[in-house]
Amino acid sequence: MSTLSIANAAGSAGKTTTAVALGALIAQSGRTARIIDCDPQGNATHATGAIVPAGGPTIADILSGTRTITDAELDTVVPGLTVVPAQSATLEGIETTLSRTVGAEQRLRLALESAVPVDVTIIDCPGSIGLLTVTALVASDAAFTVAMPTVKELAGLPRIEGVIEQVRLAYRPRLRLVGVLPCKVPPRTRGRLYTEALELLHKQWGDRVTPSVRDSVRVPEAYAARTPLPAYEPTAPVTADYRAVLACIDAGGMLG
Ligand SMILES: Nc1ncnc2c1ncn2[C@@H]1O[C@H](COP(=O)(O)OP(=O)(O)OP(=O)(O)O)[C@@H](O)[C@H]1O
Ligand SMILES: [Mg+2]
Repeated sequence: MSTLSIANAAGSAGKTTTAVALGALIAQSGRTARIIDCDPQGNATHATGAIVPAGGPTIADILSGTRTITDAELDTVVPGLTVVPAQSATLEGIETTLSRTVGAEQRLRLALESAVPVDVTIIDCPGSIGLLTVTALVASDAAFTVAMPTVKELAGLPRIEGVIEQVRLAYRPRLRLVGVLPCKVPPRTRGRLYTEALELLHKQWGDRVTPSVRDSVRVPEAYAARTPLPAYEPTAPVTADYRAVLACIDAGGMLG
């Protein structure tokens, strides 16, 4: 039983794709997995194919303290994988309300502690560091970040590591940034820039760097089909990339 947040300081890096692909692969490996959609955009909810009942409970109700995870949790198109959904209409703006509530950043941790246990819970964070990301980190045993290998994206990594360190000191002594995943990596033929950035990444983050995930049109296709990548294209090279990432996570004991 462990909880992993996927977070970074930049948008569109590949967090949601990674959360959903890893969740699906974990479920396909015979374990139980739960994705918590902590992003008002609700992309992870969409990507899992879950049907959110109109007016049904979402992560916003859990963070407001009015509903439990069991109330909100939905099945997805992948057996063994569930999702706690988000909807923009309810989660947008909740950060302001929560910031005025004493102890709000502990709510997700408490909700998870009383939820039906699953082998792995993955929390998909929004593309900026605010109260929602902090709330997710407070509930996590480990954090993962994803970045395209470009100078701009790599420059943002120390920021997320700093926030993780603050949460570790304040709330969660076990919390660590366990993995840095190079995402949307273009082929080598696109030039030295990406290769050099990858080399820099390895130099700075050492064995925390996981195998890379290539840039592939299969990813937006799977999203459009509302089917997690490993179920949509089980044999695609980009799915194999994610399998290698999960193998690295399992071999490194990154999930604790
Ligand atoms: N390996 C990949 N190859 C090609 N496109 C990708 C890949 N990974 C992600 N994408 C695309 O990049 C966009 C952003 O991906 P994703 O939604 O996973 O990022 P994110 O970090 O969750 O973004 P946000 O900060 O908005 O939540 C999406 O359109 C997605 O389909
Ligand atoms: Mg996202």
